[in-house]
Amino acid sequence: MAETGTDLLKAASLLRQGSLVAIPTETVYGLAGNALDEEAVLNIFEVKERPSFDPLIVHTWHRDTFSTFCAYVPDLAYQLAEHFMPGPLTLILPRSDNIPLIVTSGNDTVGIRIPDHPLTLDLLEQLDFPLAAPSANPFGYISPTSAVHVEAQLGKAIPYILDGGPCRVGLESTIIQIRDDSAEVLRLGGLEIGMIEEAIGKKIDRIRLSASNPQAPGMLSSHYAPRKKLIVGNIIENLEKLQPTACAALTFSDWVSGIPREYQARLSPSGDLHEAARNLFSAMRKLDDLPVTYILAETVPATGLGLAINDRLQRAGA
Ligand code: TXA
Ligand code: MG
Repeated sequence: MAETGTDLLKAASLLRQGSLVAIPTETVYGLAGNALDEEAVLNIFEVKERPSFDPLIVHTWHRDTFSTFCAYVPDLAYQLAEHFMPGPLTLILPRSDNIPLIVTSGNDTVGIRIPDHPLTLDLLEQLDFPLAAPSANPFGYISPTSAVHVEAQLGKAIPYILDGGPCRVGLESTIIQIRDDSAEVLRLGGLEIGMIEEAIGKKIDRIRLSASNPQAPGMLSSHYAPRKKLIVGNIIENLEKLQPTACAALTFSDWVSGIPREYQARLSPSGDLHEAARNLFSAMRKLDDLPVTYILAETVPATGLGLAINDRLQRAGA
């Protein structure tokens, strides 16, 4: 078992020794190690059973550090950082030689993010290196939004979980690739694209959002998946084709009939997409632990954060 607590000095000291520590962020918990230490980074890939072609995001505490980790920082990146960082946004920028190639899976770009969580910002400020951190779950499984989720899966493999409470956003960061004055979405996430477009005063390309996009394996068509078979669609119609006792239901705001309520999770009884995002991964985990064969899920309204929620549901069901 990992020790769980709020001891920043302990977390910092472990990271300085090259150990891994789970860290809270506003999106999901991360599995963090010194981004400049190749052995620590290799250990992240091993603990997560993550393929080496899937690059890691580098976490830092202030945009003044970007120029250390990036070969070049376009004005557009600083503009976005001023608006949204700290926050649920990752920028893909040209990599500087300071960042080991193992972090970026050999790419000449690097993902940079300033997580919006007081404990982790404090931790990052205390360290004189940035943290490489993927979501703290085994590759392909549901991301953790609480310390308990991390403990359940990676507890045996890491010494310490920094407990920052439940994640406020609940969906991974939105990933935007910046090239000079152009911006392109690589992953829908906790920051709405509409807000980004409003801030920069122009539309963002979404052309590489396809499920098989090798640029961002987080966008693999099957990802974020529970062990049970998740079926996305009209729950009542799908229930008719299956043995009801074999089914759990993941709904947006209303209960469905035909499945006991203990076997259902409502993402937001009031129909609020932020609340739904916050609850999504813990609801998926809860239903995944029930003795059922199927999780029947419905999509949420396809607007704002609903687009990212539906993206995760589709990938969980693929
Ligand atoms: O909210 C988040 O982003 C969380 C927290 C812990 O910060 N992290 C996270 O990391 O979701 P991970 O590793 O589970 O997903 C990161 C995604 C991967 O799909 C990876 O392919 C993409 O970011 N990525 C990282 N660096 C990249 C790069 N240089 N080019 C393209 N995609 C990149
Ligand atoms: Mg992940």
